[in-house]
Amino acid sequence: MKIAVVGSGYVGLVAAACFADMGHDIISVDNDANKTAMLQRGEVPIHEQYLPELLARHGGKRIAFCSSLPDAVAASDAIFIAVGTPQGGDGYADLSYVESVTRELARAMNGYKLIVEKSTVPVFTHDWIRKVMLLNGAAADSFDVASNPEFLREGTAVTDFLYPDRIVVGADNARSAAMLREIYGPLTSGSYYQAGPAVPRPDGTHIPPALIETSAKSAELIKHACNAFLAMKISFINAVANLCESVGADIRQVCNGIGADERIGPRFLNPGIGYGGSCFPKDLAAFRAVARECGYDLRLLDEVININEDQRHRFLRKVRRALWTLRGKRLAVLGLSFKGGTDDVRESPAIAVVEMLLKEGSEVRVYDPAGMQRAREILPASGVTYASSPYQAASGADALLILTDWAEFAALDLDRIHAALGYPIVVDGRNLFDPAVMAAHGFYYYSVGRPDVQSSADRRTAGIE
Ligand code: UGA
Repeated sequence: MKIAVVGSGYVGLVAAACFADMGHDIISVDNDANKTAMLQRGEVPIHEQYLPELLARHGGKRIAFCSSLPDAVAASDAIFIAVGTPQGGDGYADLSYVESVTRELARAMNGYKLIVEKSTVPVFTHDWIRKVMLLNGAAADSFDVASNPEFLREGTAVTDFLYPDRIVVGADNARSAAMLREIYGPLTSGSYYQAGPAVPRPDGTHIPPALIETSAKSAELIKHACNAFLAMKISFINAVANLCESVGADIRQVCNGIGADERIGPRFLNPGIGYGGSCFPKDLAAFRAVARECGYDLRLLDEVININEDQRHRFLRKVRRALWTLRGKRLAVLGLSFKGGTDDVRESPAIAVVEMLLKEGSEVRVYDPAGMQRAREILPASGVTYASSPYQAASGADALLILTDWAEFAALDLDRIHAALGYPIVVDGRNLFDPAVMAAHGFYYYSVGRPDVQSSADRRTAGIE
């Protein structure tokens, strides 16, 4: 199939690369001429595992990069819209990029096209796309609009796309449903996996994936409801972790106990400093807003959002509990991206915590394996220095704070960290370490939903007792 993918952000670029790997001919179009030129030179603008390999394999062959939407539309049978839908006023999704792409698309029509929403959009967006197409001169029988929400996570986007739990196809007529079935045929028939896929299969995935057919409206709701449910699961476990702290219980034990119930499951039960990223915060706000507009007050989501916001303030209180005063303290911070495995710092709770620490008068020395360049664009210049390793960040610091769940942090040499720190205090917002191990290494260790570790030997050496 000849496919145009409009927008080369996380979703668009990954979809383009993966569709190409599935055997389709792709034109990836973006109005950012610099980004397009970069992609044409073979450079990859985002940090995403396997993406460089797929782009190197298919760039200039099965994927062409261009910045002319009309050219891309004219050469394609299906057009996937994967442009940004940022948060607008009152929580609503700002759909102005979707609208302007649709207008341009209507004027470039040269035969039947299937228009597919790939960006996360609120319910009824497919109706609006249809209206805008008609208003801009497209003949009613020259196009269909379908919804094909994407469930990929940053950091594992390529494997999520190629080994999905399910594929949701929201199509309101047989023609568009058939086209989408054909596009995903290599995955759903299993032929892609038999042909020796470029990307290895992750543990626990089922192949071939199921394809779920729904109406366009249901598919739009599935995407918002899915992100809202996952965020609710995180806020729920954070709330229970807070209760564990109040009563002296251990959230790990509680999670083992509740996660073993198959109806609940063990995944997405990691407490911490709250969820962030470019999806959950904006999608919850948009879901809340569109539900209200459609006559249902989804108040449940208010509490999910409140708990999430509160989690970073609780962490700051924990840092105060560990350090007493914050003004003038030199703190080592590990992690700036909104989660491990990505350079994305948008809506990162780690960035929010660093900003709060700076406001309190602390100085921070930060380290992140991938997010430092992007963080520099957001964080103030004064009060923050950037280290080249976790050990350099820790050197001479009054405490070490862990704000992102990078696998590399969980594998730190604890003796080296202990030796580097000015005081052996670790405040872990992501529960990366076992409290017993931290105690054995002589740390004071504060984590989320688990009892604090106080090391008596180090209490004396640090002069705190
Ligand atoms: C999320 C969804 O997981 C994807 O299915 C969806 O496609 C995507 O949003 C989107 O709508 O585009 P993503 O934002 O990449 O993916 O990140 P997640 O892995 O879901 O993590 C989101 C946040 O929740 C992170 O800040 C993470 O640290 C936090 N989290 C996650 C927890 O605090 N605890 C957990 O147990 C899991």
